[in-house]
Amino acid sequence: MPFTIAIDGPAAAGKGTISKAVAAHFGFAHLDTGLLYRAVGRRMLAGDAPIDAAQSLTQEDLERDDLRTPEVAQAASKVAVISEVRAALLDFQRAFARRADGAVLDGRDIGTVICPEAEAKLFVTASAEIRAQRRFAELAPQGLASNLDEVLADVRARDERDMNRADAPLKPAKDAVIIDTSTLDIAEAVAAAITAVDARR
Ligand code: CDP
Repeated sequence: MPFTIAIDGPAAAGKGTISKAVAAHFGFAHLDTGLLYRAVGRRMLAGDAPIDAAQSLTQEDLERDDLRTPEVAQAASKVAVISEVRAALLDFQRAFARRADGAVLDGRDIGTVICPEAEAKLFVTASAEIRAQRRFAELAPQGLASNLDEVLADVRARDERDMNRADAPLKPAKDAVIIDTSTLDIAEAVAAAITAVDARR
């Protein structure tokens, strides 16, 4: 039976890690919807028109290994304000959400726009400083960030754009369980998420 877990929240709040662990726990499929916007953003940086890119996204676009760079993250949040881009990605996300074997989707608008009927909704957040520290720790070893202040500025710029856009702005759904991971380690955050989902099953 379809069972959708919607996990939304701001940049680098830990949604990816929590979503993967929750999907593994329940045996559900997982879709990182940020990757769709990153793939469109990457194609915009390569010279394509964002709407055309969103309408012709391929599996190959999604499997590239250069989608996690800070440049692509900023480009993703720029193409994400374009309604036609969001519309082009909608059906794929909705179909994934209702697959028969259960699904976890993480993003910004899963509980509010993509899947307002999701059986379980979580909003994962943390202070901007903590999120920037975590993202810096992830990017620095790969040579993708040299300065914590720059990462913090990037996170804030993206939050600002994501929260203030007209179409599908980042905000918790009314019935979402808020999980603030500022003082939680990964195991604690995953346990809190699983407890919240279990309460809806
Ligand atoms: O991993 P991180 O939290 O840094 O970002 P992401 O989830 O990969 O998302 C990259 C960007 O895509 C976000 O800043 C949003 O602008 C956009 N996005 C969106 O608009 N809606 C979604 N459902 C997912 C991502």
